[in-house]
Amino acid sequence: AAPLKIAIAGLGTVGVGTVQLLQEHARVVAARCGRPIEITAVSARDRLRNRGCDVSMATWYDDPVAMAREADADVIVELIGGSDGVARETVQAALEAGRGVVTANKALLAMHGTALARAAEATGVHLAYEAAVAGGIPIIKALREGLAGNRARRVYGILNGTCNYILTTMEETGRDFEDVLEEAQHLGYAEADPTFDVDGIDAAHKLALLTSVAFGRPVDFASVSMEGIRHVTAMDIVHADELGYRIKLLGVAEETEHGILQRVHPCMVPKNGPIASVDGVFNAVVVEGDHVGRAKLEGRGAGAGPTASAVVADIMDMAAGRGAPTFGVPVDRLTESAAASINTH
Ligand code: HSE
Repeated sequence: AAPLKIAIAGLGTVGVGTVQLLQEHARVVAARCGRPIEITAVSARDRLRNRGCDVSMATWYDDPVAMAREADADVIVELIGGSDGVARETVQAALEAGRGVVTANKALLAMHGTALARAAEATGVHLAYEAAVAGGIPIIKALREGLAGNRARRVYGILNGTCNYILTTMEETGRDFEDVLEEAQHLGYAEADPTFDVDGIDAAHKLALLTSVAFGRPVDFASVSMEGIRHVTAMDIVHADELGYRIKLLGVAEETEHGILQRVHPCMVPKNGPIASVDGVFNAVVVEGDHVGRAKLEGRGAGAGPTASAVVADIMDMAAGRGAPTFGVPVDRLTESAAASINTH
């Protein structure tokens, strides 16, 4: 069968991881989706940088927006990041040109997801973003497919690997927040602006996407209440431990009598509960559905391999002609009334 042609915008950690995965597993990927995946174009900031991956077979574009419009590609893979500017323009240009989009960009979708989903519907293509939420954990697929028969009661979890790494290290070493932050940044899991991690913004972006898929609501980042981990001290962790708890930064979305509440903040979680044992860069998402009861997915939430794993799964879906509406149902069926009722704090 004819290859699926893809163009990759952004060759940072995740972009390079994606190229490497596609090359390493080319045969098995082709067998599983019925056709090969061919990287026909790439775009990044610095053409001459040695990234440790071979993209010489692809046409180089300095401008990803031009690539999204003109490249010989069926699908544009956006791995630039950022909620506005060139990432947004690239995705918009691709959707308008009738090309499918795969992205890992949680900030972009948290801010503009509903509008972009509408743009995808207008040209009949898919906008896929498994990698945007909890890295390698296939939680979007799980909510949209395997758990689709349930009514969600609550969705919660550890959605930021950097914060979980910091909290785990503080606990293991007794060191304080500032001391550990720098170390976390060096591991390459942190956002370009690490305040997005430590102030809970990145977790809130991901929570807003989970909420939309789990509860069938338009993405509503503005009503997520947020508190990060800057004020958590080594002593807080010791005291929690004495009481039988660990401190984790959680994102929680739940149905209440006031509508869907969304919040991100440090929580004391019981040591024998489903979340306490999740350490380091790992993420976990717990879904409470009316029929399934409690289901939990755990895995690496950041880094090249785990994130590329999710990006490639989305690309394979497009190659195989599998796809779903961005947030599970067409935009017009996301309950518009919810936006008003969500914000109760
Ligand atoms: N900065 C994010 C994290 C990367 O630490 O979880 C993955 O979205």
